[in-house]
Formats: sequence, C-alpha cells, structure tokens
Amino acid sequence: LTRIRYPNLKRGPYANICDADISNFGKLLPGKGRVITDVTELEGYNTDWLKTCRGSSQVVLRPKTTEEVSALLCYCNDRRLAVVPQGGNTGLVGGSVPVFDEVIISTELMNNIISLDEVSGILVCQAGCILANLDSYLKDHNFTMPLDLGAKGSCHIGGNLATNAGGVRLLRYGSLHGSILGLEVVQANGEVIDCLSTLRKDNTGYDLKQLFIGSEGTLGIITKAAILCPQKPNAVYVAFLGCDSFNRVLDVFQKSKHMLGEILSAFEFMDSASMDVIRNNLKMPNPIADFPFYILIETSGSQGGHDEEKLNTFLETMLSSQLVKDGTVATDMSKIEALWSVRERMAEGLMHDGYCYKYDVSLPLMKFYNLVEDMRHHLGNRVTRVVGYGHVGDGNLHLNITTPAYSHEIMDLIEPYVYDWVAHHHGSISAEHGLGFKKKQFIYHSKTKSAVRLMQAIKKVMDPNGILNPYKTIPDAS
Ligand code: FAD
Ligand code: MLT
Ligand code: ZN
Repeated sequence: LTRIRYPNLKRGPYANICDADISNFGKLLPGKGRVITDVTELEGYNTDWLKTCRGSSQVVLRPKTTEEVSALLCYCNDRRLAVVPQGGNTGLVGGSVPVFDEVIISTELMNNIISLDEVSGILVCQAGCILANLDSYLKDHNFTMPLDLGAKGSCHIGGNLATNAGGVRLLRYGSLHGSILGLEVVQANGEVIDCLSTLRKDNTGYDLKQLFIGSEGTLGIITKAAILCPQKPNAVYVAFLGCDSFNRVLDVFQKSKHMLGEILSAFEFMDSASMDVIRNNLKMPNPIADFPFYILIETSGSQGGHDEEKLNTFLETMLSSQLVKDGTVATDMSKIEALWSVRERMAEGLMHDGYCYKYDVSLPLMKFYNLVEDMRHHLGNRVTRVVGYGHVGDGNLHLNITTPAYSHEIMDLIEPYVYDWVAHHHGSISAEHGLGFKKKQFIYHSKTKSAVRLMQAIKKVMDPNGILNPYKTIPDAS
C-alpha cells in the first residue's frame, strides 16, 4: 500500500532478515508469542490505524524488559536490521508501521506499573502501559493522568511520549514536556540511558529526556517513564453548547477563561459538518439543536457546589448575551461520557466515509477556521466533506477531508496547498500528531534549514546506522 502510493521511495541500505535472525530472536525472547512471524497475525502490526500505510515486516518482537529491548537493539544494530518501535499503533501519521520490511518491536508486553508515590503523585511505569489502564489505576489512588485522548483504550504511554501527544487535557495540565520527570530509553546500539529521575527539579546538565519526547521512535526506544500526576478532581462537569459563528466560539473561549478560571479543564469545538459525521456515520444523536458550531467545555475542581455555581453563572451570561444559543450540561458520569464521545469519536466516524485526509495544524485563533472554509471552497464537490474540529483552547485545528477511496488527484489538490496556507499564516503543520512517514517532507514548512540540520546531526550521533524508524520524521541529510 505504502510503496504503491510512494513509488519513488527507495529501501535503505539495511540487511534482509534471514532464518538465523528469527532463530536468534527466539533465543533473546524465550517463551510463547514473543516472536511473531505468522502472516495473518502480522497484518495488524503492518497496517496503521487510518489504513493508509502498510508495510511488509516479517517479524514482530515482543520484549518484556528493558534488558530484552537492549539485547534486541544491540543485535539489530550489529546486523544493520532496520527497526520500527510500536506501541498501541494508534498514530495518525504512518509512523508506527514499517515502510518496507523493518523489524517491529512492540511494547505490548511491557505493561507493568512500577510505583506510585501517594504523596507526590509520581507514577513510574513501563512504556507499554495502556493510557486508560494507567488512569483507572490512578483513580483508585485519587490521582489522574495529565493527558487524555480518544485513543486512550489502546494507545501506550510510550507511544504518547514518542509522539508528544496533546489531547483534551493539555489546556489544563500542559504538555508532556512538563509532566514527565524522567525516562529510561534504549539507544539504537542497545545502550540503556537511565534518566528515570523522579525529582521535580534537576538542573544537572542537558535535560536529555526532552529529546525523546516527540522523537517518534527515531532516537531510541522509551522503556520506562516517571510521570507527575495531578490529583483526581472531585467534581467534573461538561457543557455542550451551540453557537452561530466561529467568532462567537472565540468570544465564549475568552469569557470561559475569565469566568471559569482555574476550573476550566477542556475547551473543544466542532463544526456542523463534524456533527453530520456523528449523526450519519455513527448514528449518534446531536445532544442539542442544530447549530453551525458546537463547543464542549469541561470543568474539573475540588468542590462540586462551587464549580456548579460558577458554571451556571457562566452559562446564564453566555445565553443572555446570545453568545451561546442553546446548550446542555452533564453532571453525572454517564451523561458526561456520552457528551465526550460525540467529540472523541470523530476520528472513527470519519473512517466510515472511506478515505480520510487528516491534517492537524496549529494556527493563530483569528485565522483558525478560515482554513476549513478556504479548503471547502478550494475542493468544491469533488470530496465527500471537509470538516473542522479540535482543541480550540490550544490553537489546534483538526482539518479532515474525506472521499470514498484514495484519490491521487484530490491529494494533489490538498498538498502542498494546505501546508503552504499554514506556513503563510505562521502556523505549524503538525500540532500534536507528529510528522511520521506522511508529513516528514513538509518539515521545512514549519522549521528552518538550520534547525533541521541540527536535528539530522543529533540523529547521526544517536543512531549512526540509521536503524531506528527510518523514512520517518526527519528528512535524510543528503
Ligand atoms: P504508536 O501509534 O504505536 O506509535 C506512534 C509513534 O511513536 C511511532 O513513530 C512509533 O515508532 C513511536 N513509538 C511508539 N512507542 C514507542 C516507544 N516506546 N519508544 C519510542 N518510540 C515509540 N494524538 C494526540 O496528540 N491528541 C489526541 O487527541 C489524539 N487523539 C486520537 C484519537 C484517536 C481515535 C486516534 C486513533 C489517535 C489519536 N491521536 C491523538 C494520535 C496518536 O498520537 C495517539 O493515539 C498516541 O500518542 C499514539 O500512541 P501509540 O501507543 O498508539 O503509538
Ligand atoms: C482528536 O483530537 O480527535 C484526535 O487528535 C484525532 C483526530 O485528529 O482525528
Ligand atoms: Zn486531537
């Protein structure tokens, strides 16, 4: 699939896997189900979530410990076998699957929680822990994860870190660059870098862990993380609101920061074309009447009564000033989850159209929705739909375009047009999903040549043979 769509792509100078390699992997990973070579089983690991990239790896390796990851990388580096690290395989830029026949190293069996300090809220765990499992473990101890996203049921914390995932709580708890206190990483040559500090403050030399956050598996395999987890909020409320225009959405955002202050924990938006996806493709009802734009606001705080009063005053002001036309509020968990699922299931709903061209950009809020309108005008009725939704509170727009099947002509109309548009308005061509395989050639739309040269130099030092996730994220120095 990948090579049909990118016919000029050349396989790098890597060794071909042979029977002796498979047998050696078996010795490094003893036990059942740790070296997968069955063609049917391999299919899921070779195909990305969006079903837009497919590689042809012949083997998936499933280590349980850091030492095993180290031994595998040492072996692959000596043999010049290219490797793809894989977590939950929910990445949206083709970064988690092979392009050719790279060996897949999966963190599926690295799912132990190592410790939780109940005073500081510092959690230490292996990279293969599923995000939702960590959150439910923490909830039992009165803490919560500092990040949350629609793929929480399958994505791994290691994958979240490797992509520097943003999600719906970033507005409140900031990016992973702030919440991660320490990492343990295995370098391409198998050397373990132990930066698994559990300290809030540690200014001793370069902060190496930051390099791995967002490096998309190109600099090392993350094996453990120390995460600073916030207290579980006692009260969570969600409001789902309807607005007449995108400018009103921005007015409501500004007012929500002012009136809800410290209890505001999410501010998401979706347009009416997104709501059509929810209704038509997922058969879920619109929770309120029809409007051009919808907002989902979440509050989280320590005192229910106080938060409810604040939220009610805010909503009364929004309705009486006509900034918001209609809305519904959820205070019990089942309704809260139902409202959240309208927003969180967008990516899934879009897949029902056939093919999804997915863009994830940062833009100044004043230009934010213009891109969606411009793209609709640009593509006309050649596509099924053009939708806009996303983390408006973080300036992060998800622009999605669908067609019944992949079309090269449509792709040529969208790219590089969309990236030129974003660069022209001083945005970023990847806000939170990364560059992976699909977007790496567009890095210069958001980074200077000198910045990319420094990235290439860092990659060369840390992975001189280029075995870690080749063809992804950083363009080759040549
Ligand atoms: P994978 O997809 O397996 O891998 C992603 C990248 O990380 C690959 O380059 C891979 O090589 C590398 N990698 C994985 N594990 C490791 C490791 N241990 N060490 C080194 N490299 C590794 N993203 C957001 O930012 N915000 C969202 O709100 C959001 N919502 C989503 C909703 C849905 C329904 C889906 C399907 C995806 C969403 N994503 C979102 C995208 C995705 O980035 C996240 O789901 C997640 O961070 C990927 O984790 P994963 O374990 O699935 O990683
Ligand atoms: C989201 O916010 O829903 C995710 O990033 C997935 C997507 O962009 O579709
Ligand atoms: Zn998102």
